[in-house]
Amino acid sequence: MRIRKAVLPVAGMGTRVLPASKVIPKEMLPLVDKPTLQYIVEEAVAAGIEEIIFVTTRSKRSIEDHFDSTPELEQLLKRKGKHKELEEVLRVRTMARYVAVRQPEPLGLGHAILCARDLVDDEPFVVMLGDDLVAPETPCLPRMMEIHEQYGGSVLSLFTSPPEEISAFGVVAAQDVDDDTVKVTHLVEKPAPEEAPSNLAVAGRYILTPDIFDLIEQTPPGKGGEIQITDALEMQAQSGQCYGLRFNGIRYDTGNPLGLVTTTIAYALKRPELAPALRDYMRQVLRNS
Ligand code: UTP
Repeated sequence: MRIRKAVLPVAGMGTRVLPASKVIPKEMLPLVDKPTLQYIVEEAVAAGIEEIIFVTTRSKRSIEDHFDSTPELEQLLKRKGKHKELEEVLRVRTMARYVAVRQPEPLGLGHAILCARDLVDDEPFVVMLGDDLVAPETPCLPRMMEIHEQYGGSVLSLFTSPPEEISAFGVVAAQDVDDDTVKVTHLVEKPAPEEAPSNLAVAGRYILTPDIFDLIEQTPPGKGGEIQITDALEMQAQSGQCYGLRFNGIRYDTGNPLGLVTTTIAYALKRPELAPALRDYMRQVLRNS
C-alpha cells in the first residue's frame, strides 16, 4: 500500500532550547531563512507524501499559520512585483495538504502519535520528528518505503551512535536480513551505556503500521513518565513486525543549542550565494579566537 500520510509531532516543550522556544516553537526556529519544520515537510513531499498531519498544541499556532494562506502578504508581494518571493510563499502552502490535531498535554511521543489516530485511519504512515533533519541529498524515506513494501511491518531509521551519546536515544537489538536492512528484535528507550543492546539508535523517521495505535493505548508511561513510542514498538518487535534501515546518510539534530548552531552553519554553507562570505567570516573568527 502506498504511503500517503506523514504525522509530524510538534507539541513538545523544547526545554533544551529555552528561552528561544518559550514563545517561538523550536520547530519554527530558522535555519538561515527557513523554519526547521519546512525542511522536514519538503523531505516528506519529496518522498511522495501528500498529507501532513501536525500534532500540535495551543502555544504553537504559528506552525499552522506558516503553512496556511496569507492573503495580505501575497497581495503585497504581487503589488510590489516580488514574483520570486510570491512563488515561494505559494509553493509552501500548496506543496501538501495540511491538517492539525492537538495534543492536550505533552505526555510523550507515543501519546502524540496516538492523537493522530482518527486522521491517519487504517493505513501505514510516516512519522517525522520536528527537530531531526535529514540532508535532501541523502534521503532515507524512499528506502524505508521499499523495505516496508518488501517485508511489511513497521520500519525505523537507525544510525550508529557513539557510545557516549547512546543514552540519549531509543536503541535496538537487531539481526541483519539484507545489506542495509535489519529485523528489530528488542528496543530500549534511553538505556544506560552498559545496558544498550547495540550501538544502533533510532533516528527521527519511522514508518508505522496502524496496529501501533492499539499498542500505544496499552502502553503505560515509561522513561521520564512519558508514553514512549519505543515501548509500543517493542510489542511489534516481539511479534516479528519491526524492521530497520541502517541509515548512513547525513542527519542533523536541531533540538539542542550546539546542534542548532552547527546545523545553521551547515545549511548556510550549502547556499552558493552565502557560502564564500561565511567561509571568510569563519576564518577571521577562528584566527581571532
Ligand atoms: P523531543 O523530546 O525532542 O522534544 O521530541 P521536546 O520534548 O519538545 O524537547 P526537550 O527534550 O524538552 O528539549 C521529539 C519531537 O516530538 C514532539 C516534539 O515537539 C519534537 O518535535 N513531542 C514530544 C510531542 O509532540 N509531544 C510530546 O509529548 C513530546
